[in-house]
Amino acid sequence: MLRLAVFVSGRGSNLKAILEHPELKNLIEIVAVFSDKSDCGAFQIARNYGIETRVLGKGEGRISNENLLETLKNYKLNLIVLAGYLKLVPVEVVREFENLIINIHPALLPSFGGKGMYGINVHTAVFNSSAKVSGATVHFVDAEYDKGKIIAQKCVDISDAKSPEEIAERVLRVEHQLLPEVIKAFAENRIFVENNRAIIKS
Ligand code: GRF
Repeated sequence: MLRLAVFVSGRGSNLKAILEHPELKNLIEIVAVFSDKSDCGAFQIARNYGIETRVLGKGEGRISNENLLETLKNYKLNLIVLAGYLKLVPVEVVREFENLIINIHPALLPSFGGKGMYGINVHTAVFNSSAKVSGATVHFVDAEYDKGKIIAQKCVDISDAKSPEEIAERVLRVEHQLLPEVIKAFAENRIFVENNRAIIKS
């Protein structure tokens, strides 16, 4: 069993997609869900599944950046998944978990990424660009927003999309397929970094 932690900030539909994916049931265990927002929808989903929730930040009962690395080590994790997590992961965590942290981004990186490019901002930028395709990207996390090696991408046709919201809906559908697929590949030891590229072997 792959031991996973999932980091979230919002509603948690990607978390739900991981939890409900039939092919992941016997392959992974989500041991904790971390969030910077104590009242996020994703926490409710985690609780419905009996998964431990941990709040990040300063203050009573929260895990500070300084304590995060130690806390994560104690869970004996095999993979950390950022699924709609809006903060940067502290550099010492990124270093310790090199090639073991992945993020899902709702556009085709390296375009439409970076600081401030989250949620509807991404889809508005894509809409305004007049691009004909968008999609989802799963990539390794390094110390900068949306810059790590790309592991997998899935495209969607947006040539007839009438609004950023419509693009968001179409992209979210492929996110829910792509993220579980990549996690499955991890669990089956099929992801490698070779020649400075991330590759999924079949
Ligand atoms: C998704 O679009 C994800 O790609 C992005 O934030 C959104 C989170 O959605 N990073 P949800 O919380 O998983 O529903």
